[in-house]
Amino acid sequence: MTQDELKKAVGWAALDFVEPGTIVGVGTGSTAAHFIDALGTMKGKIEGAVSSSEASTEKLKALGIPVFDLNDIDCLSIYVDGADEINTQMHMIKGGGAALTREKIVAAVAETFICIADASKQVDVLGKFPLPVEVIPMARSYVARQLVRLGGRPEYRQGVVTDNGNIILDVWGLSIVDPLGLEEALNALPGVVTNGLFAARAADIALIGTADGVKIIKR
Ligand code: 5RP
Repeated sequence: MTQDELKKAVGWAALDFVEPGTIVGVGTGSTAAHFIDALGTMKGKIEGAVSSSEASTEKLKALGIPVFDLNDIDCLSIYVDGADEINTQMHMIKGGGAALTREKIVAAVAETFICIADASKQVDVLGKFPLPVEVIPMARSYVARQLVRLGGRPEYRQGVVTDNGNIILDVWGLSIVDPLGLEEALNALPGVVTNGLFAARAADIALIGTADGVKIIKR
C-alpha cells in the first residue's frame, strides 16, 4: 500500500467515532483531508464541524458541511487530525501544514483527540521531523536566537504565512526526551504564538495505518 492509501484508510476509519447529531472538530493536512471526504458521507446526519484551518474550512464547505465558529461552541466530543510524528506516550509533533495554533486550540476544546496517521509517523523519540514554531513576524530573529540556545537549528519556512498572519520557524536537530517541558519552555518565549509539540494535550486514541490494517491505540 502507498502512504496515501494508508492515510486514506485511517481517515475513513475515523468515521466510526463520529456520533450523528454532533459537531466534529476537524484537523488539517492530507490525512485529515481523507477524513473530511469520509465526513462528507455523513452530511445531514451531523450538525457540522469546527475547522482548524482555512484550507479545511474550504473543503468542508465544498462538501456541504456547515462550519461553526469555535466561539459559538461549548464543547466538542471529538477532534480528528493527523500528525507529523507520534510517540508511544501519544505525544505528537504537528504543524507540517502550518496550522498548529488553530489545531491546538480546537484540540483543547475536544473531549477526545483522535490522531490519524500512517505507520511512518510512529517514533520512539520525537524530533527527527523539524519542530514547527509559529512566531509573530517582528520576533523572528529573537526567537531564532533563543532556539539556537536551546540546541536547535531553526529554519525560516520561506513564503509561508499562517492563517493567523504569522511566520513559521522549523527547528531541526532536537532530540525531544521531555516533550512536555520543551513545549512549555518554547511557549514561554516572547513572540512565540505556539509550537508544534502536542504533549500537554496528547492524543487519546491513535488510528495507525499499516499494511496489515488500521491499528487502534488507546492512551
Ligand atoms: C498540519 C498538521 C498535519 O496534521 C500534519 O502535518 C500531518 O500532515 P499529513 O496528514 O499531510 O501527513 O499538523 O498543520
